[in-house]
Amino acid sequence: MQVQTHQFTYTVYPSTLQLQATDAALLQQALAISKTAYAPYSKFYVGAAALLSNGAIVTGTNQENASFPAGLCAERVLLSAVTSLHPNTAINTIAISYSSNLLQSNHPLSPCGVCRQSLAEYEERLQQPIRILLAGASGEVWQIAAATLLLPFAFNGGFLKKQ
Ligand code: THU
Repeated sequence: MQVQTHQFTYTVYPSTLQLQATDAALLQQALAISKTAYAPYSKFYVGAAALLSNGAIVTGTNQENASFPAGLCAERVLLSAVTSLHPNTAINTIAISYSSNLLQSNHPLSPCGVCRQSLAEYEERLQQPIRILLAGASGEVWQIAAATLLLPFAFNGGFLKKQ
């Protein structure tokens, strides 16, 4: 028997003030676009902004539905927009933030498991890590070097290939 340990390293910035200007601006765009989210049920407005390898910036927000499972998270709306508007283009960085009238937005948001799976697929598809910046409207910013770090033991296309 063997006990294994898994760990990963990420960077914590006290606030956006310590970020490079381009990263602070991307997070600002994520927060600004969150205000346009369609989230009448949760009133939890999520915004995501991607900086692509071609320099373009694409944004996405959560889109809820009266049939709750039909709703989509901001991250997957963003990935669909990126691949539609800029096919086969790598993503350098995704900034994710949120706003809410009901809750404080002072802690980094943690992407849901389904979005982690989708982000991991995009990384694998374009063969380039996606750097993730997570923040609320205020407070710490967490930087993760690659989306797959957020999903250890991820299921991926390799499992579907013949050995
Ligand atoms: N949500 C996102 O858009 N991204 C996340 O990473 C977590 C949750 C959305 C889904 C739903 O519309 C609302 O936030 C509350 O769960």
